[in-house]
Amino acid sequence: MLCLGIESSCDETALALVSDGRLLGQTLNSQADAHALFGGVVPELASREHARFIAPLYDLLLEQCGLRAEAPEAVAVARGPGLLGSLLVGVAFAKALAWALGRPVIGVDHLQAHVLAVGLERELLFPALALLVSGGHTHIYLVRSPVDFTLLGRSLDDAAGEVLDKFGKMLGLPYPAGRLIDFLGASGTVDEKMFPRPYLDNDNLNFSFSGLKTAALLLLEKNSSLRFAPRAASCDPELPPGDTGRALAALCASYAQTVAYTLAEKMRRAIKRTGVDALRSVILAGGVAANSRVRATMDVLCRDFSLPLLVPSPEFCTDNAAMIAYAGELLLQTGFRHDLDFSAVPRGRKIPDDYRKY
Ligand code: KG4
Ligand code: ZN
Repeated sequence: MLCLGIESSCDETALALVSDGRLLGQTLNSQADAHALFGGVVPELASREHARFIAPLYDLLLEQCGLRAEAPEAVAVARGPGLLGSLLVGVAFAKALAWALGRPVIGVDHLQAHVLAVGLERELLFPALALLVSGGHTHIYLVRSPVDFTLLGRSLDDAAGEVLDKFGKMLGLPYPAGRLIDFLGASGTVDEKMFPRPYLDNDNLNFSFSGLKTAALLLLEKNSSLRFAPRAASCDPELPPGDTGRALAALCASYAQTVAYTLAEKMRRAIKRTGVDALRSVILAGGVAANSRVRATMDVLCRDFSLPLLVPSPEFCTDNAAMIAYAGELLLQTGFRHDLDFSAVPRGRKIPDDYRKY
């Protein structure tokens, strides 16, 4: 089935074509530079940019794949969670296209699509325990099949990506800082005592990162020289020479390692609670899954339990439309689809289970 995927939940307009689980092509416009000026995503600006780019990106995708406008046999779109105005652009475009082409449409849960994305590159093995770590969510799921997700734990405050992005802001790094903290901390020596490992003194599978953020704030208040010099939005920041550079690298490394350790520790407990024999794999997904320390720490954890760790390549960890097309195709193959009246669902609201079964 040739399935078009549309992603517009936040600050990336992306379209992709997937056929029988194989990616044929994708186009993307990142709005990162437009939002970097404001230190975070501006919802109004995001919707306008989606509306501006979505149709040209569709034409470009067809051209790249050598296909005609009527080629897609199904349309999948991220319906939420995300910014409502941004989601509406993608959902309206998907519905219009499905209606005009007389093809089925399916609204996909963006978070579940992140988890399934690794299926584009490797065989999915269910039941799986999945850690989804993105800019808006930190969720632990038990996934029994592409259509059977049970939420076991979640962040009670900031998501893992937000915790990194806000730390970056304190250090004077541009938004989003997760990737930069990874890069700048690569040569840093981890000091395990620098930050407290937050919210582990309990027996639930939730996360809370506010204690870690406060510890970072207090540490930086005492060390006002530990900041990155401002640079043009298009240039990546660099470590200054000498002791300050070494201290900044150690700071980035230690902070990211604390986040990685905290995530892995709750996953260790989730594996034990579910029972290792009841699982066939562990999936790590979402933008923060691109982080080298998170990947390495999860790798060690999975080796301890002799479970395969399925992690997408970095390009499929961050927001992309291939994962939407792929998840949509899996749902459609299970016999699910939507009528043209399905809604976009903003962050914080439950995504309804309103598929039509055919
Ligand atoms: O999944 P995603 O692209 O968008 C959401 O659905 O939120 O995740 C974006 C998040 C941002 O917080 C970004 O800083 C973080 O992923 N991120 C990283 C890395 N690359 C992206 N965090 C740590 N290390 C990275 N290499
Ligand atoms: Zn995402």
